Amino acid sequence: MISDDQKHYYLDLNSMKELPESHAWLSQADGCLPPCSSDHHLAIVDVPVIDLKEDPNAMKLIGHACKTWGVFQITNHGVPLDLVQEMESAGRNLFSLPIQQKLKAARAPDGGVSGYGVARISSFFPKLMWSEGFTIIGSPNEHARKLWPNRYHNFCDVIEEYKEEMNKLAQELMSLMLGSLGVTMEDVKWAAAGGSQGSTSRPGGALQLNSYPACPDPDRAMGLAAHTDSTLLTILHQNNTSGLQAHKEGTGWVTIPPIPGALVVNVGDLLHILSNGLYPSVLHRAMVNRTQHRFSVAYLYGPPPNVQISPLSKLIDQVHPPLYRAVTWSEYLGTKAKHFNKALSSVRVCAPLNGFADANDHNRVQVG
Ligand code: OGA
Ligand code: NI
Repeated sequence: MISDDQKHYYLDLNSMKELPESHAWLSQADGCLPPCSSDHHLAIVDVPVIDLKEDPNAMKLIGHACKTWGVFQITNHGVPLDLVQEMESAGRNLFSLPIQQKLKAARAPDGGVSGYGVARISSFFPKLMWSEGFTIIGSPNEHARKLWPNRYHNFCDVIEEYKEEMNKLAQELMSLMLGSLGVTMEDVKWAAAGGSQGSTSRPGGALQLNSYPACPDPDRAMGLAAHTDSTLLTILHQNNTSGLQAHKEGTGWVTIPPIPGALVVNVGDLLHILSNGLYPSVLHRAMVNRTQHRFSVAYLYGPPPNVQISPLSKLIDQVHPPLYRAVTWSEYLGTKAKHFNKALSSVRVCAPLNGFADANDHNRVQVG
């Protein structure tokens, strides 16, 4: 049963004809201030699109994209497109279940991370977001059984296969992202593959499925509020519906348009730390629209949970002191759960020598 307390939390967004106050980020009187879903407020510059297989300069282009944007799109990435489609369909199936059914696989109330629920960053905001999510860490079996008692295998198989492909791609991307800094995977002991899928000594990832139903009042709603990812990198598939935006220093919010077959890659907080601040952990958000249901699947890639992550020694010298102290992924996730967008500055050890703002100082901007 849904308690009264949970009701406003778990509104069935698909059936709402009006935006409830609990989900209204802007009042009508505010007019169309940012966040605004109409594109004329947005800058006309594009996030780089890089052909991973055919472009001989891929490593250089990726390095440049990481430094200037912290996000880019990739084509020719080697992940079978029908697998991506199957993954999207599996997500659609899940979100189209009745709310009572989905709640059987709800995240555990005492801080559980796996399972169905509102955006996990919701607790930091006074208003609710126009989205629902499903987080998969480790095996999806337990939750899938609750959703489809008799036919959960297909869902689980697709998830496992998708995670395996994403893991391979993430390794390759790490190698390119580090490579353009003059660092090899061998320089970073834990980064070189070892152990089996799911082993705690191997870098791995979680899957985050997101659903953004069509919204009766998109200009006053927020799909997923601005945040940075607590990952090394994130690989995102979005269905053929716009909504994802990245924040670029000096430019503002930029829409990352869906390109059929392409995947979006963004730098997360831990790669920002590893790169000693050279790669910004990009602030991003998801907007909603009036007519189309938007889906996304994010692969959240991180190091083995208990390995110390600190600025790479190859990037440190007298002029470039380490800007961050060492943290493990587990410790950092705890810090993030407590301090949200102040987490990165809370592990920062010294101010930049040149007096310029850190690439992540824009995290302090207020949205809405
Ligand atoms: C995320 C995320 C964006 C999107 O899940 O961390 O940023 O477009 N998603 O759904
Ligand atoms: Ni994100």
